[in-house]
Amino acid sequence: MVQTTRTCQAVILAAGEGTRMRSALPKVLHPVAGLPMLGHVLRAAEAAGATRQTIVVGPEARPVREFLAKAAPNADAYEQTARLGTAHAVLAARNGLKTPTDDVVILYGDTPLVSAATLMDVRIALERGADVVVVGFVADDPAGYGRILLDDGEGNVRAIREEKDATPEERTVTFCNAGIMGFRGPVTLLSILDQIGNRNAKGEYYLTDAVEVAKGAGLSVVAVTAPEEDVLGVNTRAQLADAERAWQARAAAAAMNGGATMIDPSSVFLAHDTELGRDVTIEPNVFFGPGVRVQDGATIRAFSHIEGATIAAGAVVGPFARLRPGAAIGEKARIGNFVEIKNADIEDGAKVNHLTYIGDARVGAEANIGAGTITCNYDGFGKYFTDIGANTFIGSNSALVAPVKIGDGAYVASGSVITHDVAPGALAIARGRQVEKPGWVERFRALATAKKKGSGKP
Ligand code: UD1
Ligand code: MG
Repeated sequence: MVQTTRTCQAVILAAGEGTRMRSALPKVLHPVAGLPMLGHVLRAAEAAGATRQTIVVGPEARPVREFLAKAAPNADAYEQTARLGTAHAVLAARNGLKTPTDDVVILYGDTPLVSAATLMDVRIALERGADVVVVGFVADDPAGYGRILLDDGEGNVRAIREEKDATPEERTVTFCNAGIMGFRGPVTLLSILDQIGNRNAKGEYYLTDAVEVAKGAGLSVVAVTAPEEDVLGVNTRAQLADAERAWQARAAAAAMNGGATMIDPSSVFLAHDTELGRDVTIEPNVFFGPGVRVQDGATIRAFSHIEGATIAAGAVVGPFARLRPGAAIGEKARIGNFVEIKNADIEDGAKVNHLTYIGDARVGAEANIGAGTITCNYDGFGKYFTDIGANTFIGSNSALVAPVKIGDGAYVASGSVITHDVAPGALAIARGRQVEKPGWVERFRALATAKKKGSGKP
């Protein structure tokens, strides 16, 4: 990436209502790969060197502010009280545009796939002398986007025309406005915005009118081009799904470049922060929620659902496994089918192969947990810990009632309900003792047959 010594402030517009999403959740908080769209935009801005981040939020934007407090505590938020258009939105941040900055880059919170490289292209154009920079892309289907009208073949821009205001001829243009713009410093930006009116089809103050205002003042306006999928704008749920698919395709390609094998990448969902080591194999139909790290040589078998978990080198998880937050799977450990692990350390070489729930627990190294074992960790009020030592053997269909500790090397007989600690090396049997009655079946049959005859029924 090109280095620049210029300073940069990002202004991210996130106050739109997102009416077309038909949602109680603000549009910019809808997630792509498990991260709100706004989070993706913040990351791109940061990666492109925007050390100041200013976000314009709408009224009743509590959830957006809460997200910002966690994800970008240094960003400042300004409220746009009435939604009067994208230029009006930038002006809502006027008080945040007082510090001299070389580059001001405006981004939309609903364009989650924007790359740092595209933002750097904007900054480079400013560095080379442009006063205003717009990011364009050639759309397969330009419907709904503003059209960029060029002056010449050199990237100089005459105007951006919103679809509703465009003539039929202008609508045939496929070079569209991505919504990202760059300005030579806040003074230039504000002096342009103050001249934008709202005489258009929507009666809004359009940021896109900055182009004509700047041209009228003799300033230079140039366009840089981005790949369409980097600047996809999300206004509907269908476009949210498009963004997700594009993001997933990118992430899968990056994972494979990093040395992971994906048998069918199109059926695997990665999260924004999934880390895959070298020679990891991901079988088809695996879903990763946020917070997962898979180390070298581990295998995730088909139909597993994994979130907030770490999987150490050489471990095998699945098929049909569920790892919930706090699951830490040790080296070469095995987690098999229909096993759920939550907030538990499964230490190196341990095996939990079938139909088991392990929650709030430790399973020591090389332990073997039989089919159908359950840690009873919850009594409706509190959660309790189960400590299972190294080299233990827990027989099938056992219930371990927490808090309880199974000492190293101990055995638990299958079908046991363990309510007391088991000493290291001991065998615990906690079930009804087997009773056998020789010849019982024959006596039972004779009795039952006699009864039936006596009743006269056939
Ligand atoms: C906008 C552009 C259009 C471009 C398209 C790219 C304008 C006038 N049009 O159209 O040229 O092709 O994006 O996706 O800029 N917002 C506010 N306050 C407002 C209005 C909007 O903060 O009063 C925010 C929204 O949250 C959103 C962004 O600005 O993040 C864009 O608004 P949206 O209504 O989605 O504009 P588009 O119609 O998509
Ligand atoms: Mg939009």
